[in-house]
Amino acid sequence: MHDVIKKTAAAAPAKNPRYVALHRRFPTIAYLRKHARRHAPRFAFEYMDGGAGADTGIARNWAALDAVELVARYGVTTGLPPIDVELFGRHYSAPFGIAPMGGPSIVWPGADLVLAKAAQRARVPYVLGLAGGATIEQVADVAGDVFWFQLYRCAKNDHAIGFDLVRRADTAGVHVLMLTLDVPVRTTRTREVVVGLGGAGVFRPGPRMMWDIVTSPGWAWAMFKNGQPRFANIKHYAGANASLNDVIQFARNEMGGAFSWDEVAQYRDRWKGPLVVKGVLHPADAERAVKLGIDGIVVSNHGGRQIEALPAPIDCLPAVARAVGNHATVLMDSGIRSGTDVVRALALGASAAFAGKAFLWSLGALGAEGPGHVIDLLADETQAALGQIGAHAPAQARSVVIRHAAALQF
Ligand SMILES: Cc1cc2nc3c(=O)[nH]c(=O)nc-3n(C[C@H](O)[C@H](O)[C@H](O)COP(=O)(O)O)c2cc1C
Repeated sequence: MHDVIKKTAAAAPAKNPRYVALHRRFPTIAYLRKHARRHAPRFAFEYMDGGAGADTGIARNWAALDAVELVARYGVTTGLPPIDVELFGRHYSAPFGIAPMGGPSIVWPGADLVLAKAAQRARVPYVLGLAGGATIEQVADVAGDVFWFQLYRCAKNDHAIGFDLVRRADTAGVHVLMLTLDVPVRTTRTREVVVGLGGAGVFRPGPRMMWDIVTSPGWAWAMFKNGQPRFANIKHYAGANASLNDVIQFARNEMGGAFSWDEVAQYRDRWKGPLVVKGVLHPADAERAVKLGIDGIVVSNHGGRQIEALPAPIDCLPAVARAVGNHATVLMDSGIRSGTDVVRALALGASAAFAGKAFLWSLGALGAEGPGHVIDLLADETQAALGQIGAHAPAQARSVVIRHAAALQF
């Protein structure tokens, strides 16, 4: 990178006073997490924060990112670089986005639309989860051209529901379809079980949860305005009069199992836009996806929520990026808690990184104002980290010298 540059510094934009005030209280995402722990209803915090087993997979994701060192070069850039990127032919303002999540409305009723609005305002990708609390059509209205959609396997009746969701996504103008590969079985998240969520984020309030709601007036008010958490996209197929329990049962019957490669190929045939597979760790799987004509790979271990024995995606990223070359776009998630983490992912071969829990912590801490603050923090930190290492654009991070002792060799 260093022979290219000497780019004029981008002037740091004046910060709006609200950002300055929030930044003083929540200067990093870690502060949002701490606040969410104290202020969100207990079941909501356990849902957003908990992982598989004893959370060791989450801890490994964080430690693995922390262990990646970037060797800065100086005298080559002046000031803050631009951080905008192009992903699948569309322009985004930053090399990060909001990962798909089922049940963010457990954390904050109405969260899917809040996240979609924040992403549209900032022009970063927003991935609606199939198991989210708003329909594809509702999100399309607010997310507009930054709208991506995630699908789990719904294979009954020759994928009748899965293919119908693809049709709806296309009609609604979704930019990227993301197939999640890494949930071949249902696993248990201990902390969800303990608070009565049934281990799969199923919202079925009992007395203890009712007490949590009553003692969290901000959350209760959001529920009063937005209704209780629900699986909006799945309800569509469960029938107009289906109760929450009916929808849960219906979802359990319809969704499940891992997409086979043959099934991925069928979705490739149906979806004409960019198609991404999420949850890849092994380079051979990435190669297989590329052979099927997949446009993007998300290196991910589901944020440590499926099983704690999976390696940290950042440690698999270099091998996957090498295997994919320039045949597909490589993305990464799991453990991102700062713009510095985003830059680590860029340096190791990702074109963008996604965050899940960071956005949920912000909802737990600040309600509807939270996601915008996370985007501002990540943008500022990404820009500062790139400027610090001497990169004048996100793609330049790849040229930096890296110490990454834990990188997996396959
Ligand atoms: C509460 C919660 C629910 C999630 N639900 C889904 C989902 O429905 N589909 C999916 O593909 N990934 C889901 N994920 C995984 C995220 O898309 C992403 O892979 C993960 O959160 C990234 O790790 P991070 O939380 O450390 O940023 C969920 C994550 C969380 C925290």
